Formats: sequence, structure tokens, C-alpha cells
Amino acid sequence: MMVRRATITGLGKYVPPKVLTNKDLEKMVDTSDEWITTRTGIKERHIADNDVPASELGLKAAREALQDSGLTAEELDLILVATVTPDMLFPATACIIQEKLGATKAAAFDLEAGCSGFIYGLSVAASFIESGMYENILVIGTEILSKITDWEDRSTCVLFGDGAGAAVLQPTEKGGLLAFDLGADGSGANTLYLPGGGSLNPADETTIKEKMHYLKMEGNQVFKFAVKRMGQASLDVLKKANLKPEDVDLLVPHQANTRIIDAAAKRLNLGEDKVFVNLPKYGNTSSASIPIALVEARENGLVNNGDIIVLVAFGAGLTWASTVIEWNEGEK
Ligand code: UT7
Repeated sequence: MMVRRATITGLGKYVPPKVLTNKDLEKMVDTSDEWITTRTGIKERHIADNDVPASELGLKAAREALQDSGLTAEELDLILVATVTPDMLFPATACIIQEKLGATKAAAFDLEAGCSGFIYGLSVAASFIESGMYENILVIGTEILSKITDWEDRSTCVLFGDGAGAAVLQPTEKGGLLAFDLGADGSGANTLYLPGGGSLNPADETTIKEKMHYLKMEGNQVFKFAVKRMGQASLDVLKKANLKPEDVDLLVPHQANTRIIDAAAKRLNLGEDKVFVNLPKYGNTSSASIPIALVEARENGLVNNGDIIVLVAFGAGLTWASTVIEWNEGEK
């Protein structure tokens, strides 16, 4: 019997044009280009204008992914948006994008798994396709982290950026998304979070005064978790796919910190040429980071049919997620 798997047949990305450099940040908080570069690897990030919501970035990335796949919006069965910065708590940002795309046949919902959200989204989409329930699914990661950033807190404001990436998934009988490893450790929920605006601390004078509507992070604890989990999740997913680290053509890790990426690469014994890094240009764009990186890796000739590609991420939750792909986007 033929195996029915999901494969990525289209990719797209969008980042807002405005760039904020480390030098700009030196004028805003007590920091330096040298500190940010050596501790994180980030040089600059893109920042959306005040009147732009996450759905707008996601929509642009989605249009590009659809065009790349050759599908029309009307052919989509499902739109799944991974984000920690939705336009509103509800309705789902996926519904807003569905309407703007004109994807009238598509179901739509959001998924929240922090920076692991895009890979969690791929796993949900792949399951729907493998089960035969759906044929054509759009997975989007879109974030405007600049709007939940405390621009007076130097320990977080230098790290994040805005952007969106999207992928179209369709069935295949050859290659595709071979395996997933997903996980969560809720004991770390209080190391990376946005306390205000939900049912625990709804918006009122106190929550606003105490800056509860901004992202909070214990950077050091998240760092330790990430160093441990990124390597392990990559090894675990390869094992599930009956592959070895030496089979990997390219690792596309969540772009948060080059020291975290280096640790994961070392665990897999991968040389620099097999690890894609675009963090210096974008900072950490949470659930958008992997699809943006995947688009750019392909533009650089590093993603070709038949290649074995590992995606791996960690994020708020705390969560982790990895997948291994035998790349097969068909002939274009
Ligand atoms: O996608 C998931 C999102 N989260 C992450 O990716 C975060 C993971 N964590 C990290 O990447 C790192 O922990 C950071 C980059 C956030 C921090 O690096 P670190 O090596 O863990 O530094 P630290 O927090 O231990 O701070 C070291 C020093 C402190 O000063 P003292 O206490 O040693 O005097 C900080 O106050 O660096 C200071 N510091 C800064 N100095 C200049 C913190 N932020 C800055 C800054 N500029 N922007």
C-alpha cells in the first residue's frame, strides 16, 4: 500500500520594510552593538508600523506561498495560523486572513505554541492530510512582537523582530514530512510569558501600570532549556524517521540565539555549511522564524528535491518541536 504523507509545495515570506539596528537600540536603552552581537548574534530586526496587524504580514506571506504552490485560495481546505501576537484574542487571525484571501471553502483556526508554533502547525496539517480529511492546507507563522515588547527593558527588547512566513501542504506518495517530535514542559510556563490581557489579569489600570501587557522572560532559564532541547529533539525526530545525523543535508533551527543554534549543531555533529542562519537580519520572529528561514535557505540553493531537512524549535510553554522532511515540492 502506498504511504500518504504531507509535503510542502509552496513557501512565502514577508517582513515589514522598517529596520531597527543595534546602533538604533544603543540610543534607546543601556546596551551596545557589541553585547547584542556577541551574546545573541543579532544585528538588526524589522519592525511593523503602528497601524499594521499580524494578519497583514501573514496575508502577504500566504499570497506568496499560494502562488509558489500554484494553488488558488478557493482550493484551500484549511488555514492554520501559529502566532503569539494575534490581531485580537478572538476571532482567530486565521479567519481574518481567510476572508482577505477569499479562501471561502477553508476552515480556519489559530494555534499557540510559542516559537514552536509553526512546527506544531505543520504536524496538525500533516495529520489532517495523512488521515485523508484534507488535501490543501496553508500553515502561516506571523508575529508582531514589537507591539508586546517593553522598549525600556534591555534584557528583552534587543531580541525580537516582526515578520511572517507560510507554507502550503499537499499529499504526496514520495518523501514529504517523515516524522515529528513535539513536547512541552509547563513547569517553565513562568519563564516566558505575557501576563496581561487574558482571563487571569484582564486589562485594567493596574495591569497596564505594571506593564503586564508586555512579554516577560527569564532569559537564562529559557537559554538552558533551549540548549538541551534543540539538540535532543533533532536527534529524536531523526530516530523516528530511521535516519542518522549524517543523513541530514540541512538543519533549519528556530532563530533565537546563535549560541543556542551552535549547541544544537554540535549535538548533531553538523558543519556550518549544513546549518541555516539568518538571525543577524531579523532577530527572533517567534513562529515566523522557521518559515522565513526556509524560504531564504531555498533562495540560497540549499533546499532541493530529495534533500533531508530537519526543522527544530523551542519556545514559550515551554515547548519544543522538530520535524524531518525529505524535500519534495514537485517540479515547478
Ligand atoms: O524564542 C524563545 C525566546 N527566548 C530566547 O530565545 C531567550 C534565550 N536566552 C538568551 O538568548 C540569553 O539568555 C539572553 C541573550 C537573553 C541573555 O544572555 P545571557 O548570556 O544569558 O545573559 P544574562 O541574562 O545572564 O545577563 C548577563 C549580563 C547581565 O548583567 P550582570 O547582571 O552580569 O551585571 C545583564 O544585566 O548582561 C546584562 N544585559 C545586557 N547588557 C547589555 C542583559 N541584557 C543586556 C543588553 N545589553 N541588552
